[in-house]
Amino acid sequence: MPQSPAPKPGILDIAPYVGGKSAIAGVAEPMKLSSNENALGAGEKARAAYEAALKNIHLYPDGRAGKLRDAVAEHYGLEPERLIFGNGSDEVFALLNQTYLTAGDNIVSGQYGFLAYRISALANQAQVKLAPEPEFKATPEALLAQVDDRTRIVYVSSPANPTGSYNTAEEIRRLHEGLPADVILVVDEAYAEFVIAPDWETSFGLARDASNIVVTRTFSKIHGLGGLRIGFGYAPLAICEAIDRIRLPFNVSVPGLDAATAAIGDEAHQQASRDLVETWRPRLTQAIKGFGFEVFPSAGNFVLVRFKDAGQAAAANDYLNSKGIIVRAVGGYGLPDCLRITIGTEDQNRAVIDALSEFAAG
Ligand SMILES: Cc1ncc(COP(=O)(O)O)c(C=O)c1O
Repeated sequence: MPQSPAPKPGILDIAPYVGGKSAIAGVAEPMKLSSNENALGAGEKARAAYEAALKNIHLYPDGRAGKLRDAVAEHYGLEPERLIFGNGSDEVFALLNQTYLTAGDNIVSGQYGFLAYRISALANQAQVKLAPEPEFKATPEALLAQVDDRTRIVYVSSPANPTGSYNTAEEIRRLHEGLPADVILVVDEAYAEFVIAPDWETSFGLARDASNIVVTRTFSKIHGLGGLRIGFGYAPLAICEAIDRIRLPFNVSVPGLDAATAAIGDEAHQQASRDLVETWRPRLTQAIKGFGFEVFPSAGNFVLVRFKDAGQAAAANDYLNSKGIIVRAVGGYGLPDCLRITIGTEDQNRAVIDALSEFAAG
């Protein structure tokens, strides 16, 4: 028997990422509330730009993402040359890991930290060190306690998925102050636009004068462009230049670049998306709590609901499925007794409330 080619050490130890479920057998149009997408979809301006891009899809994209770069830089008041664009912010994490990690290094993140950070770290034969989150939040102290002389990157998402918790501006500052200068702090702000807490702050300002902070954002949430895969990082120039050496030259597509550039200028759609979440996040939370289930305070466009045990969470999941509703089981995050539910449209949220009310009533 010829031997089959063996992947690099560690690759087969990686549990494949399982995305939010998107289908229920026998249900033509399920309500998909499993991936924290934008319930309103993409805005009109982004859609029009996408359609207009059709005439250019035979051309390679601008590998520098020039127009999008300028639009993002102007919108947030950032230096354009300090931006890295990726095929989703997921690719920015993968590029950071690929650029900075070698065998035996490690990354640090919270116990319930977003799984994408870990996969490419393991692919680079690095270790993943997880800080305990007894209060379902990654604190600066717990993260710093994991840092050792092989730590190269600390990942924190604020707001965090799947817990919905966030770090205050003061906590992020404390975390940064506690890190050695040669360790990169990645602050993942995928859900930034949905935060209303007054003590949260974007880390763009802190990153401006730091040599080791990368702040990431995505077009997949507030802009409703998850299917086009665009995210970016704001990083020190030296990090941008290092990453650019290995970034695939045409990593973001022509329609993706054009739609994202239009989306940045579509304030009305951003506001409508925020309003929907601000209206329904508290209503959904109150209603579900009223049925006797625990709901974690959320700063994102989703809520995490805790049931009595894993069995009850699985039964609730099945019941929601039977009503055509798909939510996210989060056993892969070590939370088998929880379900994560994306804030949907009014009709979808009412359907979730009705279904959980019936489920609670037995
Ligand atoms: C915390 C967090 N960061 C990043 C992302 C990924 O974003 P993107 O679609 O830009 O890869 C997600 C997606 O769900 C997320 O929850």
